[in-house]
Amino acid sequence: MNLASSTSHDPIILGIETSCDETGVGIVQGRTLLANHLASSVDEHARFGGVVPEVASRAHLEAMVPTIQQACHSAGISVTDIDAVAVTAGPGLVGALIVGVASAKALGLALAKPVYGVNHLAAHVLVDELEHGPLPEPVVGLLVSGGHSSLIRVSDGSFESLGSTLDDAAGEAFDKIARLLGLPFPGGPEIDRVAVEGDPQAIDFPRALSVDPAHAFNFSFSGLKTAVARWIKEQQMLGNNISVPDVAASVQEAIADILTRKAVAATMEFGAAHLVIGGGVAANSRLRALAEERCAAAGISVRIPRPGLCTDNGAMVAALGSHVVRLGAPASPLDFPASSTMPIAQILR
Ligand code: KG4
Ligand code: ZN
Repeated sequence: MNLASSTSHDPIILGIETSCDETGVGIVQGRTLLANHLASSVDEHARFGGVVPEVASRAHLEAMVPTIQQACHSAGISVTDIDAVAVTAGPGLVGALIVGVASAKALGLALAKPVYGVNHLAAHVLVDELEHGPLPEPVVGLLVSGGHSSLIRVSDGSFESLGSTLDDAAGEAFDKIARLLGLPFPGGPEIDRVAVEGDPQAIDFPRALSVDPAHAFNFSFSGLKTAVARWIKEQQMLGNNISVPDVAASVQEAIADILTRKAVAATMEFGAAHLVIGGGVAANSRLRALAEERCAAAGISVRIPRPGLCTDNGAMVAALGSHVVRLGAPASPLDFPASSTMPIAQILR
């Protein structure tokens, strides 16, 4: 907790996150985290090998009120103590987003408090303020989740896209490759776990777009998935035993290598001395270690929130809400829609 960065005069912001399968409610005052509660429907999706939007939406509806109550209880506040409500307006699964947006509007109306519809991707970056204090600017952000892999630049409080994935996101690659290896969903944490026993140099999987200057800050991961599928098939045809830890470690190395290489290059190219990494994949142990190593070698400071703040949560939404309130931004109009494709440059509806 960073108690030094908030005062008792800072507004209390309650953040609601429902863009995918986690119902998150976080409470933040200034840059101090007061509570962060999560109800996940991940177990309900596991047998389908991916998130089923309708199931996620229904689970959000059931979890919303109890999760708000738990968060207020943990923060030691009454719901009437909240000064503003922030909610993920997008991007994400539209049905899931609508549950959060409608809940936030209802809460705001009932309490007569402003509602801020904020960007999920920007929230993955801003959440780091809860752990490491104000973000230095300019800063380059590497945003790696189940749905997005992007490099962004944050300057004067605004967000600009530098590049993104042309096909699968990094988390999607982890999830799909884990499935090829017979590991359960979500695959990222499973690959991270299994890779500990493997040799990261065992198989030299491709690093796509590593030399093409036109795609210096873009990513592509669908070729990696195909390469792993092809490699597994070849080994099976040859009658060879497949070492799941070796494949997991080699895949993890390929993904961490390309992400950190491009993130360091972007940070240097755009004259920033700081890199911040956010999103579910930022919980990956090899990505964290390699980022620390390469940033130290390049003289860049790197900030990565603790794993529990990297994956989807309500605190990140409250942190971004706190940021826009500090900027003096007007509240969102009460008819603002949920947007499945909200662009990173738009941090507030
Ligand atoms: O940010 P997030 O919780 O949800 C989205 O906004 O997508 O990211 C979820 C993604 C999943 O693809 C999951 O497999 C991946 O983050 N992930 C990880 C790890 N923990 C979560 N990937 C690699 N290593 C991890 N430790
Ligand atoms: Zn996310």
